[in-house]
This record gives sequence, C-alpha cells and structure tokens, in this order.
Amino acid sequence: MPSLKIHHIGYLVKKLEKAKKTFESLGYLAEQDTVRDEIRKVDICFLIKDGYRVELVSPFSEESVVSGLLKKYKNAPYHICYEADDPETAYEELTANGFAAIDTPTPAPALNGCKVVFLTSPVIGMIELIY
Ligand code: NI
Repeated sequence: MPSLKIHHIGYLVKKLEKAKKTFESLGYLAEQDTVRDEIRKVDICFLIKDGYRVELVSPFSEESVVSGLLKKYKNAPYHICYEADDPETAYEELTANGFAAIDTPTPAPALNGCKVVFLTSPVIGMIELIY
C-alpha cells in the first residue's frame, strides 16, 4: 500500500461559524478565513490543535455534494484526508486495493487550488487524497 500522511479530518457541520467557535473553545486555532467552495457548494474552515488539522465542511445549498450526507450523519467526522509524495501512484495503489473513486481529481479552493479526489472503501468508508 502507498505511504500516506494524514492531512486532515473532515468534519461535517450544519452551522459553520458556531462549530468554529466551539472548536476554538476547545483550543483549536483557525488556520485561515472560511473559504467558499463553489464547486462543491460548501463553506470550509481549517483548524489546528496539537498538530492535528480538522476541516469543517458546511453546505450552503441543498444542491451541495454533502447535503445528503449531513442529513444522514448529522454533525460528525466523515473522512480522513491523506497526502502522498507521489499521488498518482498512491491513487493507483488505492484503487487496486479495494478503494473506489467516487469523483475525479478536482481543484479544492480551500487548499490553494490543489486537486483532491474522494475514494470509498466498503470496509472503512470515505477517504480523500490530495492529488
Ligand atoms: Ni477534506
């Protein structure tokens, strides 16, 4: 399997600003201002604590890719994002090892336009790979 490093834990929330304040009350520090991702129709904010990065993801439209997930999971973590030195090879190894891509590498405005791709495993659910 590929050598992966954890980049962040994606956390689905209904109310981004309230969730951000609550994470801040736990000692997390916002890494940047909230970014609006028009492609996925979500607002995103990254927070850091003890070297761990949490990504708050909140849909601003019913047509958002995560609106259905939010109804199902409520406010909850829903993916772990990984980075790899060689994302193309990592992607190939993941798909050869039981992970199925659920979209194609698409720019992520909250990550300075880096591309990301989501994959899912029947055993552990969704992961994200910075591509
Ligand atoms: Ni993410």
